[in-house]
Amino acid sequence: MDITVRQIRIEDAEGFRECLDSVARERRFLAQVEAPPLAQVQGFVQSSVDNDAAQYVAIVRGQVVGWCDIFAHWAYALRHVGSLGMGVRADFRGQGAGERLLRATIAHALHKGIYRITLEARADNLAAIRLYEKLGFEHEARTRCALRFDGVFHEGVQMALLQGPASAG
Ligand SMILES: CC(C)(COP(=O)(O)OP(=O)(O)OC[C@H]1O[C@@H](n2cnc3c(N)ncnc32)[C@H](O)[C@@H]1OP(=O)(O)O)[C@@H](O)C(=O)NCCC(=O)NCCS
Repeated sequence: MDITVRQIRIEDAEGFRECLDSVARERRFLAQVEAPPLAQVQGFVQSSVDNDAAQYVAIVRGQVVGWCDIFAHWAYALRHVGSLGMGVRADFRGQGAGERLLRATIAHALHKGIYRITLEARADNLAAIRLYEKLGFEHEARTRCALRFDGVFHEGVQMALLQGPASAG
């Protein structure tokens, strides 16, 4: 499969929204169960482009099939901390898109001064947890009743990757 991984562009907004919506509707991996309206996503992507944010998409035959983003915290003492979100459409998983997206986004985050990357995954989301472990993320905490789908609580796992000056020890 010919996968292109590159920084998001404003013209990707609709495809990104469709991809996000498709993963959200699985009602399992993401906290949201549908994507926000297109106008909101367009505004979000525009601000990402304007800020040269660490937000990448995977494209196959012109279709957005995955995304990964790491957004820095706004508060002064937390500007080196970024939260990670990602997903690959179910029919394109297991072919290396997720790993390529994650590597590209982490590298961009380093360039933007994001030295601590944090995320929370559902504890039973082994595909995501293995991917994060493979790229050096470490487990920091287990969170009880972190997510709730259709009345059922799920445990979460908080993980983090330190890079740049934060990894110096
Ligand atoms: C997590 C996710 C992004 C991985 O994307 P992907 O394109 O399928 O992953 P890749 O093909 O690049 O796999 C890279 C690594 O991830 C891990 N991995 C991927 N799928 C896995 C699976 N089903 N079981 C165990 N490990 C898996 C492996 O470490 C793999 O490396 P390997 O091939 O050397 O074993 C994808 O499964 C997904 O979109 N899941 C739903 C959304 C989601 O969970 N988002 C994260 C929320 S915290």
